[in-house]
Amino acid sequence: MASTIFSTSSSLPTAVKGLDCNTYKPTLGNLRFIASPNKKSIAVPSSSSPAPKPLFPVVRATSDVPVKTGLSDAECEAAVVAGNVPEAPPVPPTPLAPAGTPVVPSLPLSRRPRRTRRSPALRAAFQETSISPANFVYPLFIHEGEEDTPIGAMPGCYRLGWRHGLLEEVAKARDVGVNSIVLFPKVPDALKTPTGDEAYNDYGLVPRTIRMLKDKFPGLVIYTDVALDPYSSDGHDGIVREDGVIMNDETVHQLCKQAVAQARAGADVVSPSDMMDGRVGAIRGALDDAGFQHVLIMSYTAKYASSFYGPFREALDSNPRFGDKKTYQMNPANYREALVEVHEDESEGADILLVKPGLPYLHIIRQIRDNSPLPIAAYQVSGEYSMIKAGGILKMIDEEKVMMESLLCLRRAGADIILTYFALQAARCLCGEKR
Ligand code: PBG
Repeated sequence: MASTIFSTSSSLPTAVKGLDCNTYKPTLGNLRFIASPNKKSIAVPSSSSPAPKPLFPVVRATSDVPVKTGLSDAECEAAVVAGNVPEAPPVPPTPLAPAGTPVVPSLPLSRRPRRTRRSPALRAAFQETSISPANFVYPLFIHEGEEDTPIGAMPGCYRLGWRHGLLEEVAKARDVGVNSIVLFPKVPDALKTPTGDEAYNDYGLVPRTIRMLKDKFPGLVIYTDVALDPYSSDGHDGIVREDGVIMNDETVHQLCKQAVAQARAGADVVSPSDMMDGRVGAIRGALDDAGFQHVLIMSYTAKYASSFYGPFREALDSNPRFGDKKTYQMNPANYREALVEVHEDESEGADILLVKPGLPYLHIIRQIRDNSPLPIAAYQVSGEYSMIKAGGILKMIDEEKVMMESLLCLRRAGADIILTYFALQAARCLCGEKR
């Protein structure tokens, strides 16, 4: 501060340089500041006589940088030693507490954590977690149609026409720094079978869409979902035996073909969300055998059998035709079990470990963060999105603030990337754009 007030610059006229520091009696508002005997500036009521022109410029909190006097460092120091202390804003008065505030001795605290929260600048300096559009993966629903169909249970989300609406949505996302998407197809019922073979049709909706996106946006990072449910006439992630058992190894065989078809189309990251045992290792082997060593596997490591997926299943019309997914997705009551899945996925070669849902499972994210060096993804699922949207629409919460807080919390828990239907809205918010 002092260096901007007392410059060593000699560019000012010599007349200014020659002024005597004793003539310095500036005014500030209705107060006049003089050098006190103990060399501290004190404020006294201003007299009616006009104040002489100050040697040093008056320093006001809101003023521009004061005019330089042209005094040398030595002259400025000499002036201060002589008791002519240059002007600066007064010591601010102690702010008044409201009438009735109890008068108490201050608590003998050695630490007051509120100190680092005192101002926006301090809070920004000590913020431990940050979030950027680069952290987002934008899940997009696609269908064969040309129109974009609103999804009732997910306000603001659409089944996008793969050749039209999808391209526009991806372009909008890229404009605000979201360069990663994950595709979820709405497959015509007539193409669904018990073994979900449409999943690996090279001319199916997903591979076709990937090729088109890569053609338009070569730098786009495309994640895919690897699971049979959008293609299964039973609405399950795997092949269902007549007694209702989901057949693990047979399903994995199909998933490998699905992942390879997606990689062949140009997928960057294949993401098995099916929760079959051993699928990560099998998919890794299949990808490598087909020459896709560079394709990443994001494993849904800890995917819970959650009711928060309800709106998603409506979006894709993928509700299981019978039963539930509890024999493959994890029990929401379980914590340690997530580590069993982590160890399997790590040893089978997963590149990214995903936790799903997000907010109700923050401590699972943290547990994995503390137990694995691999990158972590959190999936803020459809039910989480829809609850925030609904609360906002009903004016029960501030949608934008709750949205940003929920995403920041996922980062704080340890997620590197976040799959979120809010990706575009949140990125716009981070870029300072309002809808
Ligand atoms: C299915 C899949 C689901 C989701 C992503 N992939 C639903 C399910 O397991 O039934 C849910 C995503 C969401 O709710 O947003 N493989």
